[in-house]
Order: sequence, then C-alpha cells, then structure tokens
Amino acid sequence: MAGYLVDDTRKVTTHRLTEMKQSGKKIAMLTSYDYSMAQIVDGAGVDIILVGDSASNTMAGNLTTLPITIDQIIYHARSVVRGVKRALVVCDMPFGTYQVDPEDAVRNAIRIMQESGCDAVKLEGGAEILPAVRRILDAGIPVCGHLGLTPQSINKFGTYAVRAKEEAEARKLRSDARALAEAGCFAIVLEKIPAALASEVAQNIDIPIIGIGAGGGCDGQVLVIHDMLGLNKGFSPKFLRRYADLHTIMTDAIGQYVSDVKSCDFPNENEQY
Ligand code: KIV
Repeated sequence: MAGYLVDDTRKVTTHRLTEMKQSGKKIAMLTSYDYSMAQIVDGAGVDIILVGDSASNTMAGNLTTLPITIDQIIYHARSVVRGVKRALVVCDMPFGTYQVDPEDAVRNAIRIMQESGCDAVKLEGGAEILPAVRRILDAGIPVCGHLGLTPQSINKFGTYAVRAKEEAEARKLRSDARALAEAGCFAIVLEKIPAALASEVAQNIDIPIIGIGAGGGCDGQVLVIHDMLGLNKGFSPKFLRRYADLHTIMTDAIGQYVSDVKSCDFPNENEQY
C-alpha cells in the first residue's frame, strides 16, 4: 500500500468526507466497475469509488448511459465492493429506477444497497427528483446528488456541451444544489459547468462538491477510470487529464504475445511442465 496511506487505512464514511471538506482536504473519486480494478484504485488511496452508469459506455459499448439495468449495475457494484477495503463505494441508480415515483425509487435503492453491499447511491437531477431523494434518505440510505451535465438526460439536452452557462440555468443549479444539501445529501457531483459557478456552489454549501469538468474550486474531483488511464482513445474533452496511455501499453503487450505464439517463442522450456 502507498506510504501516505499507512496511517490512514480507516474506512471512508460520509462523515469523514464532511470533515475533509471542513478541513480543506481535497477528495479524490474515480469510477470502477470490477473487482480487479477496484482493488488497484482502492489501494492507491482513492477516497470514493463510483460504480458509475458510465459502465454502460465503458464496459458494454453503448453510446449512452441509458441502457444499463439495475441487475447489471448491481453485478458491477457487487464485484467492486469485494475488492475495496477503504474507499466509500457509491453506486449510480440507473435511468428509470428513480424517476417513476418515490416508492419505486426507495425500493430500487434498497435493492442496490442490499444486493451489492455498496455504501451509498447517486441520482441525477434537482428539484424534480427531490421527493425520491427524500424517500431514499428517510430509509437510511446516503445519497449523492449529480447536477450540471446529467448524461441520463442526454436526449433532452441533445448535446454534451457545457451546462449552466446562461444565468437562468445557473440560478436553477444553485437552487437545486441548496435543496439537495438541505434534504440531507452527503455530496453533490457537478459535471461540466463553468469553474466560477462550481466554485461559488462549493463555497456556499456545507457538503462536499465533487467536480468533473467543473474546475479546481470544488472540494474534490472525479474522473472515469477508462478516460484517465487512456483506455478510451477517442474521448479527449478539455477537462480530461490522461495519466497513462494504457491503450498503447496493452496493444503493444498483446501484439508481442500474438507474435510470440505465432513464432513458437511462447511458451519456452521454462514455461511448461
Ligand atoms: O457514471 C459516471 O461515471 C458518472 C461520473 C461521470 C460522475 O456519473
């Protein structure tokens, strides 16, 4: 385990995340969708692991997050939970599992918690989903909000462009963030909005604000693991920093394996019984 974690191996809780905000310690969040990746991400010191519905894109090859089902996200979340010792594991509620009515939403949130063993759920939206958020919180389930670019509404937006650039949308975002915090959410993800607006929200709201494409004024940052490790060659928005080029590293390694098999170099005498 990395040195900086040796004296900090306690499980991350929503309470500790609030303390981190209060003491000005930044929160690192990344997605994971399987056991092996979650073990690495957790061991490297990430505070929150998000089992994002971006699994619909990264794991299943869909164009949007809409097709992923509750059974599929539970499968991913259960695999992640088995690999995690320290991080708080948050699972996205898929499209259609919380928008119908609050009773349906709480039933689905309970299923996700019980069957996956995760620590919290994340829902996209503001005032329009507040009754569902309140019902889930009333059941004792921690909720993370998600405002700004909400990919489950991509068919309504029609574009993945930056949100809340106009004052009317910025005003609604401020009021939604306040309402989610007052309802009892433990954190809010702000996706792809102007840095100044995200910073203002983070300063005026007591719960941690985690940004993706929302600038450095947030209390923490989240990225999709496939994007930051360079597994997705074709996706390069301005906000993304690539920390590795795993696409090239893996392609080279696999190409070498293919060549070794075909040339009868692999396996050699020491690699057999
Ligand atoms: O599904 C996801 O990966 C997300 C992040 C982009 C925040 O919601």
